[in-house]
Amino acid sequence: MNGAEPSPSICLVLVEAALELVPPECQAHPAVVRHARRKGKDPSQILLDRAYHHAAFRHLPDAYRRGRPDIIHFCLLEALGSPLNLRGMLRVFVSTYDGFTIRVSPLARLPRVYERFNGLMEQLYAKRQITADRNELLSITAQSLRELVAKLRPTRTYLFSEQGGPLAGPALGRELVSTPRPLLMVGAFPHGKLGKETQGMADRIISLFGKPLEAWVAVSRVLCAVEDAMLWSST
Ligand SMILES: C[S@@+](CC[C@H](N)C(=O)[O-])C[C@H]1O[C@@H](n2cnc3c(N)ncnc32)[C@H](O)[C@@H]1O
Repeated sequence: MNGAEPSPSICLVLVEAALELVPPECQAHPAVVRHARRKGKDPSQILLDRAYHHAAFRHLPDAYRRGRPDIIHFCLLEALGSPLNLRGMLRVFVSTYDGFTIRVSPLARLPRVYERFNGLMEQLYAKRQITADRNELLSITAQSLRELVAKLRPTRTYLFSEQGGPLAGPALGRELVSTPRPLLMVGAFPHGKLGKETQGMADRIISLFGKPLEAWVAVSRVLCAVEDAMLWSST
């Protein structure tokens, strides 16, 4: 592992993200083969996507929490379009189910249309890097969440989960901005609890609301709390 990253203001990591290439055990399934053929790609080069490969999920471990790249799409649009990101105060990462870290440039403008986002992610897995005008917009490396956290060296890690202690709105904003380099983790998967290993990496586990929220709603509420405490008080 190299030295520490330069200290960004706020790091947001979408954890246990339901984004991965079709795993080997599903690549011969007719639903996958048909879909890959339509895309003009090999089954090993396309993203696992429940909307297209539902029938292939039956024998997949953890099936209920995999194959939802649309969740990552929504979360990234939310985060990259936030005032916090537009002010250059946010760094966004995706820690995928299949053990990769995607680093997203604050300048990345992702496709609004899901099919194009899906194609971009497949291109990213194939090329490992997406650039525009020589600037890196997206990169992907084989790196676990634990390795990413060690590299970012946050002063405090926060995990957002329905099972955490309640904290929201202005009190949440104050807590997060009083931490010099906070790392915020939100699960980017459809159902189920966050894994024990992820929970073990959290210094504090916070519930935003008494009911489960969609991942992108959790992202927006957390970023709004930070913006209210940090941005609007400095303008
Ligand atoms: C759709 S949820 C995953 C499902 C889930 N029921 C859970 O217990 O986390 C996706 C993510 O949004 C965040 N989230 C959802 N509801 C939350 C809540 N009430 N408080 C804090 N974070 C929440 C968590 O990070 C969660 O992993």
